[in-house]
Amino acid sequence: MTPGHPIRVDAGGWGATFGQDRRGHLRQLGLGPDGHEAEPTAPLQLYPDAHPCWGDSDPLRQAALRITHHDGTLTTRLRVQGAETSRCDGGEHIKILCRDELFSLEVTHNFRTNPSTGVLAQWIEITNDEPGPVTLFDYDSISPLLLVTDSATITQFGGSGWADEWRWSTQPLHPGNLTLSSLGGVQPHLQRAPFLLVEPDTGPSSRDAIGLSVGWGSNTRFDLDVRPRPDPGSARELRLRAGANPYAAEYVLDPGERFVTPEVAWTWARGGRHEVTERFHRWVRADVLRDPERLRPIVVNNWEATAMDFDESKLVELIGSTGRLGADLFLLDDGWFAPNHPRDDDTKGLGDWDPDPAKLPNGFGPLTAAAHEAGIRFGTWVEPEMVNPDSDLFAAHPDWVVRDRRETRQHRQQLVLDPLRAEVRDFEVGVFDRVLGPNPGIDYLKWDANRPVTEAGSPALPPERQSNFWVDHVHATWQVMDDLVRNHPDVELMLCASGGGRVDHASLRRFHEVWPSDNTDPVARVRMQWAFSHFLPASTMASHVTRWGGRPLEFACAVALSGRFGFDLDLAGLDEQEWAICARAVQLARRTAPLVQLGEVEHLVSPVEGEDRSRAAIAYHGRDGGPSVVFAYQLDDPVGPAPAIRIAGLDATARYRVTTTDLRHEGSGPTTSSGADLCSEGFEWPLRDACTALIWELTPAGT
Ligand code: DGJ
Repeated sequence: MTPGHPIRVDAGGWGATFGQDRRGHLRQLGLGPDGHEAEPTAPLQLYPDAHPCWGDSDPLRQAALRITHHDGTLTTRLRVQGAETSRCDGGEHIKILCRDELFSLEVTHNFRTNPSTGVLAQWIEITNDEPGPVTLFDYDSISPLLLVTDSATITQFGGSGWADEWRWSTQPLHPGNLTLSSLGGVQPHLQRAPFLLVEPDTGPSSRDAIGLSVGWGSNTRFDLDVRPRPDPGSARELRLRAGANPYAAEYVLDPGERFVTPEVAWTWARGGRHEVTERFHRWVRADVLRDPERLRPIVVNNWEATAMDFDESKLVELIGSTGRLGADLFLLDDGWFAPNHPRDDDTKGLGDWDPDPAKLPNGFGPLTAAAHEAGIRFGTWVEPEMVNPDSDLFAAHPDWVVRDRRETRQHRQQLVLDPLRAEVRDFEVGVFDRVLGPNPGIDYLKWDANRPVTEAGSPALPPERQSNFWVDHVHATWQVMDDLVRNHPDVELMLCASGGGRVDHASLRRFHEVWPSDNTDPVARVRMQWAFSHFLPASTMASHVTRWGGRPLEFACAVALSGRFGFDLDLAGLDEQEWAICARAVQLARRTAPLVQLGEVEHLVSPVEGEDRSRAAIAYHGRDGGPSVVFAYQLDDPVGPAPAIRIAGLDATARYRVTTTDLRHEGSGPTTSSGADLCSEGFEWPLRDACTALIWELTPAGT
């Protein structure tokens, strides 16, 4: 790249343009819907810094890159060396290579475009060729400068922790600094999902929305630095930094080593939030998810039904009921293992991955045989990264846990194994071989992780590199996950961490679905699923019918049906009427799963914004003008006037056959309606009572 030749990143419907000024400083010449077509109209040094470095950028703002060099120099001044573009998967991989003007330190900005989806993946690589180690204190993956108006908003997804994931929270973007971060290393996304929506101008003339996702299975950070501009009435500047959270996690990089920041995936959509969602769903299917076109099974899990209190005959009974109900797979959760420290509660047994002979005297054999007999699949649960002190594993290897020189605090009576040690990684990979090897009838696993890291430290790191733990821990864990996928490619995988504690697009590359939250109260779940589905398709969103909240069973079924459907119920304990409701829900899931999991979502009536949050409606449309399904939920007593449910994603020229069900009765109809009417008039809001639901199936019936 020479000063006269800007480099353009065409991300598909939006993008960015970069240039180097006279001093070789990388400048952002354009960003946004026309950002890749920007033509410089002023000397390049007047354009914003593309990626501020400490000591070279505005001294009154925090920098995206802050490094202490081998000789103690605190400042970094990068100069562009060149740029390269190569083709990749229908898009481009653009690299802008920079080097410090004083030190042998290289920083490469990476952009991987995927124009058919409109999502841009961006990260930086830092290579240390200095004669000694350097320390990275801030290492954001992206740092664009945006103009926003005084009506700009952001939406973050964070709650109070366990069972409160994905809480939707929209707030104005006031001048000042706002940091949205998570901590804990394992299950940080319980506190804050690593996703963000920015709406730079919510005025009547703009619907622009920007969606961002940090692909990091650990602590993440968004930092929003908003400054008014001096001229009255003009836009504000937002410097938006995103990446791994470097809090207490400075990284010492040795000579010859390369540090790669997490991939931030983002998009800027003129068409608003809906377009952000469409793009993210397309991108997750095209670039992230395993087997994106494969329908996920209807799962029956035993956790909410039995916890750890079961035996072979109880499980065989539940497996039989699963088959009779018409579900696809039985998932045996926590509590099946540890012969010498029986896992009857969460105080013991983690780490000892052999069946408990008191509960499973014949191992998994009778269970997989019963599943085979019932015509269903079988899966089970592991937590390979953890150990209870009361276990054979801990007795044999007390030194395998993450720790410093202090006493290690326990959470849920357990400790974290240290995957920086090769023998621990081998053990963790071996857990899967031990469970799956002798049991070919197991073809589904739930990977759980139920405590944060405290007292981070590892003997695999020298004393002056202990803070590298937080970053190295992610890569070591991903290495184990990659080995699992390589060794057992046909096993379907769910990722869980105390609920939705590890929901990020980079970890998801190894899995088929996630457990979004332990909170399965359908009223709470509608709101969580509303947020979750803005970024991730429903095929990834495991959603089970439980007794949480004591809600009517048909309502719980209707809520679970708008995700990857399943149950966490004692099926053997259902009365006749309840069984009929569940059986109807299974039949409906069979018909609607292709729409819900593989189709396109339309968010219709919001349960998280505005005065009236008592209602929700959501539609899924099949591809290529096929059928659609619409869900309406009355969550609380009605607050305001009933809205109409207007559905935009239908074929306006088609007629639709419409059947309706609340799952308490067989569906009624069909009636017929035109796509044009359903779009302009819509359905009248049909519900009055709290915790009720209605589902419409719409099938094209010609024109
Ligand atoms: C936490 C998970 O979120 C639950 O679904 C369940 O698997 C428990 N762990 C088991 O200990």
